[in-house]
Parts: sequence; C-alpha cells; structure tokens
Amino acid sequence: MKSITFNHQNTSAIGIGTWHIGEGNNMMTESEMAAMRYGLDHGINVIDTAEMYGEGKSETLIGNVLKDYHRNDIQLISKFYPYHATPKLIEESLKASLKRLQTDYLDLYLLHWRGKTPLSETVIGLERMVKAGLIRNWGVSNFDRSDLEELFSVPDGENCRINEDLYNIGSRGIEYSVLPWQKKNHVSFIGYSPFGSDGGEFLKIKPVLTEMAQQKGVSVHQLLLAWVLRNHDLLSIPKTSSVEHMQSNLEAIDISFTKDELELLDKYYPAPKNEGRLEMI
Ligand SMILES: NC(=O)c1ccc[n+]([C@@H]2O[C@H](COP(=O)([O-])OP(=O)(O)OC[C@H]3O[C@@H](n4cnc5c(N)ncnc54)[C@H](OP(=O)(O)O)[C@@H]3O)[C@@H](O)[C@H]2O)c1
Repeated sequence: MKSITFNHQNTSAIGIGTWHIGEGNNMMTESEMAAMRYGLDHGINVIDTAEMYGEGKSETLIGNVLKDYHRNDIQLISKFYPYHATPKLIEESLKASLKRLQTDYLDLYLLHWRGKTPLSETVIGLERMVKAGLIRNWGVSNFDRSDLEELFSVPDGENCRINEDLYNIGSRGIEYSVLPWQKKNHVSFIGYSPFGSDGGEFLKIKPVLTEMAQQKGVSVHQLLLAWVLRNHDLLSIPKTSSVEHMQSNLEAIDISFTKDELELLDKYYPAPKNEGRLEMI
C-alpha cells in the first residue's frame, strides 16, 4: 500500500474516520467493527475519533476493536471540545477518552475547533499532557492560516504537529494558503469528509465525475478519494460502516489521474483563487 509521511512517521495514505460510529443497533455496530478490522488488517494504521462522536460511543467502539491489535502499530487521534480547552478540562476530557479507548496514551490530541479559551492556555494544557506521557503529540482542527499563525505566536505553539480541515473536490479552500503554510512550517495535514460527509450532503456530484468514473471503471466514491490523495502529502480519513466500502476505499489509493483528467476536473471544481472563508462541517 502507498504510504505517506504523516506526523513525522510513515503511515497509510488513508486513515479510518469514525464520526457516527457506535451510535446504531447491534447489527450496525458489528458491521462497523468488521469494517474497521478489515481496514486495520489491510494496512491502515491511523484512526481518527473525538469525544464529540456519539458523546463517547465512537471511542468506546474503537477501544473494543483495538484490544485485538498491537497498540504501538496504530496512530490513534482524538479531539476535545473547544469548551474543554483549559488545562484542567483538557486533562479530564483526555482521561475519559483514554478510558473509553482502553489505552494509556494517544498519538495525537486535537482541539476540535476554536472556542473562547485563549490558545496560550490550551497549549499549556496540551504540553502538560505530553510531559505526563498521556499524549505523544498534539494538534488542531478547523484552523485557517491566520489561526495557525496566531497559534505559532504563543509559547510552544510551534509544537503543533497537525491541522485537520475539510477537504474534498468541492471544498478546496485550504489549497490556497493553508496547505502551503503547513508544508513550510512542517505541520501535517488531515483532510476530512472526502465524500462530503454522510449522504454526500456537502458535495455536489456533477456529471463529469460520474462519466469519468465510468470511463476509468471505478466508482464515484473511489474517484473522489483518489482525487484527494493525488497529492501524497496529506492524510484522508473516509468513514465507512461496511467491509465492502472499506475494501473499495483501499483500492482507491492506487487510482491515478492523467494531466488531462485533472485539468478537466479543475474546470468543474476549480481551485481557489483567493483566501476565502474556511469551510467546516
Ligand atoms: N475535525 C472535524 O471537524 C471533522 C468534521 C467532519 C468529519 N471529521 C472526520 O472525518 C471523517 C470522515 O468524514 P465524514 O464522516 O464526515 O464523511 P465522509 O467520509 O466524507 O463520508 C462518509 C459517507 O460516505 C459513505 N461511504 C464511505 N465509503 C464509501 C464507498 N466506498 N462507497 C459508497 N459510500 C461510501 C459512508 O457510508 P457507509 O458508512 O455506508 O459506508 C458515509 O455515508 C469523520 O468520520 C471524522 O472522523 C472530522
């Protein structure tokens, strides 16, 4: 499987997204666990979750799956609410997440989105958790370039390892300045919602995608994921609750585009021409 350098380590080009996982009935939970196991057994080694997802249900399900794997083989990422971003509440949230995940450390712990707590306070809390050995590294999510610059201006802010933002063919805003800034400052990028989230509600599928998928003998979802991965400097984290879709997403990693195909897609889904407002789900 193609790999990328992410968080200064060699990892799979896709991770496992887990929003809404663990919230359904037993049959759905079984299917979600089987899909996650299939992904882990076939080379995926990053899982993305958050205390917000099902108010802990996603983390609980992941904890049940991870019991059967070597913890050190997997990069586990979780996130805390912006209203838990003070040092005291970060510690409380983190300990609750670790308990649900049945582990004693996270590889990355992220501020889910910006709230009212000053970034300097949040960084103090996160650095404390690194020193305590409860997290290896930390990062942020839904930050634009100015947020990242502000973060880097506070003490220890430059220790931020990753930023996770919305990225799919219909939401390309981060290409303008977030991605170049992160590359220059050695902050890894995670793109979330490669398919426009559940039901594709945040991405309009234009006929060019359906036609190109048909010509290439792949599904539209595979095309969407392959497009996000055309630049191997980032990690994409599709969510699926089915083994069949997990298999299809793994296959998408090997799909490539010709220059003409990429130019055609650019015509219908243009790259940003200015900074714009950061889109988020
Ligand atoms: N940091 C943030 O603020 C933030 C925000 C949103 C999301 N995220 C993260 O990013 C992850 C992914 O984003 P997302 O969950 O919003 O949506 P997504 O991955 O863009 O889309 C998920 C949808 O696509 C379907 N799907 C997956 N693979 C498929 C395939 N091969 N063929 C057909 N359908 C397929 C899934 O259905 P099935 O389950 O039936 O396969 C589900 O309905 C989240 O789970 C979460 O970990 C982070």
